Amino acid sequence: MNDFKKLFYGVLAVFVLVLLLWVGWMGFLSDRGVDAARLEALTPIPTLIPATLPAPDYAAAAADVRCETTPVDLLGAWVAAGAPEEGAFPFTDLATGEACQATFAKDVMRLFSEANLWYSGAPSCTTCHTSDPATAQGGLSLSSYAGLMAGSANTADLFAGGNWEASRMREVLVTGYMPLGRPPDVPPNGPVILAGERVAEE
Ligand code: HEC
Repeated sequence: MNDFKKLFYGVLAVFVLVLLLWVGWMGFLSDRGVDAARLEALTPIPTLIPATLPAPDYAAAAADVRCETTPVDLLGAWVAAGAPEEGAFPFTDLATGEACQATFAKDVMRLFSEANLWYSGAPSCTTCHTSDPATAQGGLSLSSYAGLMAGSANTADLFAGGNWEASRMREVLVTGYMPLGRPPDVPPNGPVILAGERVAEE
């Protein structure tokens, strides 16, 4: 054997050995179930670039089962159900007519306590109808269930014994008297809002 042959077979032998070692090492890694994150750390070249786009949140999109209504329609449904403080009461979706339900604590209270609900820039009802009898406008507190049920200086029962159509509360809302300072372009029943949730069909 001349020197060239020695060198040639030497290089070949080393190459085959390294190849076998590498294949063996890969097999060892996959046996141990090396995950992508670990492989990334083991790989000197960053071939596994982590995804940067946030995964779409399908669960949250599907979870929005709220219904369309207006403040006056929702209050009407609540009063028709006996104005319950606890538990759900039924109403129908304005757009689809689907069966929905809402609660006083989550859906009715915010009609009185939330700013910008009736129109952009609207103070909340509770800004004027505070929980303090000394300052509550018209002698009416709208910051609690008890306040609503206690009525105003002029009207002991704002809900006319459950007859929403005849009630003073409905009257002040649909005539545009309340919320005080409401612009004339706000619809009589108030804006379309999202409330409650769809009732799952059996
Ligand atoms: C900027 C202050 C202000 C805001 C905001 C306001 N009110 Fe009033 N409200 C008054 C005043 C003042 C009176 C008393 C007027 C009167 O006796 O005629 C009153 C009276 C009332 C009455 C009693 C009417 C009667 O016959 O006794 C009701 C009901 C009422 N408001 C509901 C609401 C509701 C519901 C909201 C929110 C959607 C609201 N108000 C927002 C100032 C306000």
